[in-house]
Amino acid sequence: MAQQVLSNVIKIRKTIKNMQDYLETTKNVYKEAAENPQPGLCCTTTPVWQLPGLNIPQKMLAMNYGCGSTVNPRDLVNNPKILYVGIGGGMELLQFSYFSRQAGNVIGIDIVDEMLQACKENFADAENQNEWFRSEFIKLIKADALHLPIENNSVDIAAQNCLFNIFKHDDLKKALQEMYRVLKPRGRLVLSDPICEQQIPDNLREDEKLRALCLSGSLPLKEYIKLITDIGFGTVEIRAKRAYRILDPVNYDTDELIFIESVEVCAIKDPMPVDGPCVFTGKTAIYYGTSKFFDDEKGHVLMPNQPLAVCDKTAAALKRLNRKDIFISDSTWFYDGGGCC
Ligand SMILES: C[S@@+](CC[C@H](N)C(=O)[O-])C[C@H]1O[C@@H](n2cnc3c(N)ncnc32)[C@H](O)[C@@H]1O
Repeated sequence: MAQQVLSNVIKIRKTIKNMQDYLETTKNVYKEAAENPQPGLCCTTTPVWQLPGLNIPQKMLAMNYGCGSTVNPRDLVNNPKILYVGIGGGMELLQFSYFSRQAGNVIGIDIVDEMLQACKENFADAENQNEWFRSEFIKLIKADALHLPIENNSVDIAAQNCLFNIFKHDDLKKALQEMYRVLKPRGRLVLSDPICEQQIPDNLREDEKLRALCLSGSLPLKEYIKLITDIGFGTVEIRAKRAYRILDPVNYDTDELIFIESVEVCAIKDPMPVDGPCVFTGKTAIYYGTSKFFDDEKGHVLMPNQPLAVCDKTAAALKRLNRKDIFISDSTWFYDGGGCC
């Protein structure tokens, strides 16, 4: 009996240690990446914002450790309060402050001292290269994504780029819950992360360094979206999906080629509809019948030959009608607003 208890205690200690180890490894990877910028660390194919009078310092560009972009300029109307978790070299923070140009609207959080320091230095360079910019526009806070020192319902936009994919299941859930907690009702969570539709072998999943490098923690898109909607986000938009990386048998401990993509997702803290979340993956409905319009009497009116962006739930409901005069397109994985819900 005593031996059984002891063995259970040892198991629990080992599990806790493993859980903490990968987070420690992650911190060390980004301490190193802050001290010695590594342009190839995370590989983004998203173009850097080109806007009049916006100059991104060279070191900030080299420290672009994201896998896409998060907040879109159209999210930035009406001076929203923005929280950005996992700051890297500060490039996205600088881009956000381009639109607000005042203190108090943009907050950056990171757990790695060296990253916070490097980001501050990059902001000093940015001040020299952008006459409109002041470092104090952005408030930097040392904190953990799993325990945000931010009040409930206090920010309009919460964003992260290429950090949450590193977290294991329970930590990922916690990080998403924290973002949900701090967002105002109808606030937006904007995420950019790698995803993978193949089964990533356990040896790669458990490789702390690969995980920290955003190469082996990815989930299939459906699982990733389900985690987000299970937290309570009533609307989810897939804004972009792109090729990201390959793990090949020569360079990685895998028998088959593993294809990783990156997604840009916006989740809105809308109330959850009674029939489940609205997930927009870029589907469109087009009515081509002979009536003046088609009305499904659930709030969706299709005008002849005019595309209407529909969420997957509405697309499925229209398909179930089995009509010969309604066309439903496949998901384009590119949704940028408007539509059915
Ligand atoms: C892959 S980098 C992405 C950086 C930035 N978002 C970008 O797009 O360039 C991950 C960032 O998250 C930070 N980080 C790692 N663990 C964290 C944690 N538990 N809480 C907050 N930040 C963390 C790292 O220091 C690093 O800045």
